Amino acid sequence: MKLREAKRDLYRRLAAAQGYRSRAAFKLIQLDERYRIFREGDKVLDLGAAPGGWLQVASERVGLDGLVVGVDLKGIPRVAENVLTIRMDVFSSELVEAVTSYTNGKVDVILSDLSPNLSGIWELDHGRQIELTMRVISLMPHLLKPSGSAVLKIFDGEELPLVKSQLKKIFEKIDTTKPLASRGQSSELYLICKHYKPEQDLLSQT
Ligand SMILES: C[S@@+](CC[C@H](N)C(=O)[O-])C[C@H]1O[C@@H](n2cnc3c(N)ncnc32)[C@H](O)[C@@H]1O
Repeated sequence: MKLREAKRDLYRRLAAAQGYRSRAAFKLIQLDERYRIFREGDKVLDLGAAPGGWLQVASERVGLDGLVVGVDLKGIPRVAENVLTIRMDVFSSELVEAVTSYTNGKVDVILSDLSPNLSGIWELDHGRQIELTMRVISLMPHLLKPSGSAVLKIFDGEELPLVKSQLKKIFEKIDTTKPLASRGQSSELYLICKHYKPEQDLLSQT
């Protein structure tokens, strides 16, 4: 067995043993250990949430005083008392209203593990994943509290600098990282974005 397959297998077995729905759960656990993304009582929005591994991790971290809302094209079986899910395309014009009807306002953290169906044609997959990420960025003024955080999956490639430069305008700190549970897998990276500064704040400072 190649190293990459052995690692996938390890995280698959760990997920099954610990009751997580996906290996991806370990990526978020490792990111949270390093970057302290969640606080108890936070409201969290998870875009591209099925089958629900990240929802489980976020739910544990924010506790019963917090709330986690997951959105995906696919249905997600019930996760926990503090988790609500919406079956919807993130490009839907009804998304903001659907989310805020649950969150009653903006959230502390936006997570995106959005990934298109992979065609195997690199330029196409990279381009589609970037479109998903740009959609998440466009939702931030409507859904993310000032000083909030975001964790965004992104495929490495020629559009990455453009996305990062957009994010640098609206967050105080951006880190690019690859958690151990993701190493060797495709070219996915995670952007850790801290201290959201909505653009109107930037304008008022000039
Ligand atoms: C890698 S999976 C997410 C895994 C998840 N973080 C977990 O821990 O279980 C990516 C998800 O993005 C979803 N997705 C892709 N395009 C989408 C879209 N336009 N709207 C909503 N969800 C989408 C897919 O259906 C898929 O479930």
